[in-house]
Parts: sequence; C-alpha cells; structure tokens
Amino acid sequence: MKPELPPNVVCLPRTNQLEALLTIIRDKDTNRGDFIFYSNRIIRLLVEEGLNHLPVVEKTVTTPTNTEFEGVSFKGKICGVSIMRAGESMEQGLRDCCRSVRIGKILIQRDEETALPKLYYSKLPPDIDDRYVLLLDPMLATGGSAIKAIEVLLAHEVKEDKILFLNLVASPEGIEAVTKKYSQLKIVTASIDKGLNDKKYIIPGLGDFGDRYFTLP
Ligand code: PRP
Ligand code: URA
Repeated sequence: MKPELPPNVVCLPRTNQLEALLTIIRDKDTNRGDFIFYSNRIIRLLVEEGLNHLPVVEKTVTTPTNTEFEGVSFKGKICGVSIMRAGESMEQGLRDCCRSVRIGKILIQRDEETALPKLYYSKLPPDIDDRYVLLLDPMLATGGSAIKAIEVLLAHEVKEDKILFLNLVASPEGIEAVTKKYSQLKIVTASIDKGLNDKKYIIPGLGDFGDRYFTLP
C-alpha cells in the first residue's frame, strides 16, 4: 500500500491519458520534438489543476437573457515564477491559461558533482507579496532547488500559503524535504516516482529535463 501523501500535496489522477503522456516523456528514445510536445500537454494539465486550488469569491452577473447568475471569480492576483532553466518550459502553459500573467524568474543550478543548489539571480514582480505565486519547476529531486526558490519568495514577503508549486515528476525524498520545512504551501505534481539514484537523479524519472527540452537533438 502506498504511504499517504501529506495534505498539502496533490498528485494528478492517474488517468490512462496521463500515464500515456508520462510514458512518452520517460522513454529515452523519445526525440526532442515529441518530448517538448508531450511535456507541454502534461504542463497544461498541471496548470489547470493548479488553478483549481486558487480561492474564489462570489460574483453575480447578468446573462443575455436578463437573468442574474450567482457565480464566482478568482480572489486576488497571481503570478508565475520559474526556476531557470527547466522551469521556463512551463511558462507558456501558464500563459495559455492566464492571459498576460506576470512572470518572475529565479536562476538556481544544481552543482553537477554535489547536487547542491546555487542561487545566481532572481527578478520578481515588485508587488509579488500581494499575489498568489505559481512556482514552476518540472523536477523535484532532493528538493534543494525548490527550497532555495521558496526561501527567495518568502524573503520577498510572499505568504507561504499563497505558493503553489507545479511539478511534473517528484521523488518521495524531495516531497518530504519540502513539506517538512513548509506545511502551508501546496505542491501539485503529475507523478511521484520511486526515489533517487546515487547521482541524485529521479528514478525511474526521465533524465535531465532541461537538456531534453532545450538542447538535446
Ligand atoms: C534541475 C531541475 C530542478 C532541480 C531539481 O535543474 O529543473 O531545478 O534540478 O533537483 P533538486 O530537487 O535536487 O534540487 P538543474 O539545476 O539541473 O538545471 P536546469 O534547469 O538548467 O536543467
Ligand atoms: N534534474 C533533472 O532534470 N532530473 C532529475 O532527475 C534530477 C534533477
């Protein structure tokens, strides 16, 4: 039996469609064109699910039949923040759902030898403390990069419970590291894999997401 997820972690339902999309991007023989296309399909599902977790307020509108409809509208402003480089692949999926959404960037790179994250740069919307933040990174391995990015957001006075971390593939170790430190933010992921190998890569995983999306043939 699978251990229960912490309450602030949401894994997309394991539909046939999602399983098929994940199988394509996990396959080492999938070329870059297909990797981009099918990753984008999963990113779209993640963004749609992430938006389901944003709060709404009541809103009444009048329809063309001159009838009042008691509906809702999103409460508050949002922005996206991508962890460069791989997180940038998720920006278009967010833009496709949220027209002219503001996007901030945090450049964090894992050291290839130690797998420890290093923060190089951040540029965030000036009013980010007043927004819900959709934090974008496809891979959650040790959790080091995500934790560093969350520290940057909190230092900019983003409220922890206004952070939604959208992620394609997570390891149990990464989920534990992030949720042990932060219990109020939410993680939305498409898959929680078995674990990490000795190079701190996710297994079965899909390899280096950034290389496969941006540079490999
Ligand atoms: C990858 C990935 C995450 C990080 C995950 O980025 O996109 O940011 O590793 O690993 P962690 O949970 O152990 O920190 P990487 O630093 O390789 O850079 P890239 O985005 O340029 O591929
Ligand atoms: N970064 C990746 O792109 N893949 C992993 O499995 C771990 C870190």
